[in-house]
Amino acid sequence: MTTVNYDRAVSYYDDTRGFRPGVSERYREAVLKLTGADAGTRILELAIGTGVIGLPFIAAGHSYVGVDISRGMMRQIAPKLAGRADPRLAQADITVALPFATVSFDLVQAIRVFHMLVDWRACIDEARRVLKPGGHLLIVEHQAPADQGDPPPWALVQGKWDAILKELGVDSGGLRNDLYPTEAILLRYLRSISADTRAIDLLIYRELPVSCRTMVERRAQRMFRSDWALPEPIYRLATRMLYEWLERDCPNADAPAERRMLFRAIIARF
Ligand SMILES: C[S@@+](CC[C@H](N)C(=O)[O-])C[C@H]1O[C@@H](n2cnc3c(N)ncnc32)[C@H](O)[C@@H]1O
Repeated sequence: MTTVNYDRAVSYYDDTRGFRPGVSERYREAVLKLTGADAGTRILELAIGTGVIGLPFIAAGHSYVGVDISRGMMRQIAPKLAGRADPRLAQADITVALPFATVSFDLVQAIRVFHMLVDWRACIDEARRVLKPGGHLLIVEHQAPADQGDPPPWALVQGKWDAILKELGVDSGGLRNDLYPTEAILLRYLRSISADTRAIDLLIYRELPVSCRTMVERRAQRMFRSDWALPEPIYRLATRMLYEWLERDCPNADAPAERRMLFRAIIARF
């Protein structure tokens, strides 16, 4: 069992991982078109978090159930609906057992979570169990599109952070846990369990603009999952070195820049 509980990220999750207005609605429309889902479709979201993706489905009256390991994240959902809807939420580890009956959903979707699941096979097996025959499983991650061009200036911050950690003897790749499944591995596993599956570009969107300084401040406040396991003394030293770099060497430290991103989706039917 491996879980990454986001309880500690509740207060800043939407500000740092939320989308521009309209992006979640465009995501909903893309999924409805892709799967043919309608008002009668029973939808389950694995790792619903604060409802960044799920809210437009719930607000539009879809039959929507969410599950997450973090109660704190899910507690953010109901106030945003201001009583207009009553989302059904359950706390569970999606890599262990889903607290739902076999063959009970038409569509199961997991957004921005598979990259952190070590026991992802168990999660797929559970999704398959609760899906009705012919139902859709969507595994969605966001990534830079192939035609992205130059990365935004603030991407320098990640490179500098990795270099500082390396200097301090920490393998930042290990902290991010890049062992998690690639698209090719997921597709291979899904085919091995007889799924009809493919990967598609679902939606391109623009992120909210960010400056290098903002990224450094987020790092300094340990807002990134990969920093949560860093020992305090190393973390403090690394943060000080990052601020020194920001003030001394970072070009255009305060200029906000945005980037285009892609929702890449694996779609599987059993
Ligand atoms: C990056 S957030 C994504 C939330 C939402 N899907 C979104 O796109 O905004 C990851 C979420 O996965 C949840 N999570 C991580 N591992 C989990 C597990 N094994 N079981 C259930 N939830 C998990 C975290 O608590 C967090 O809410």
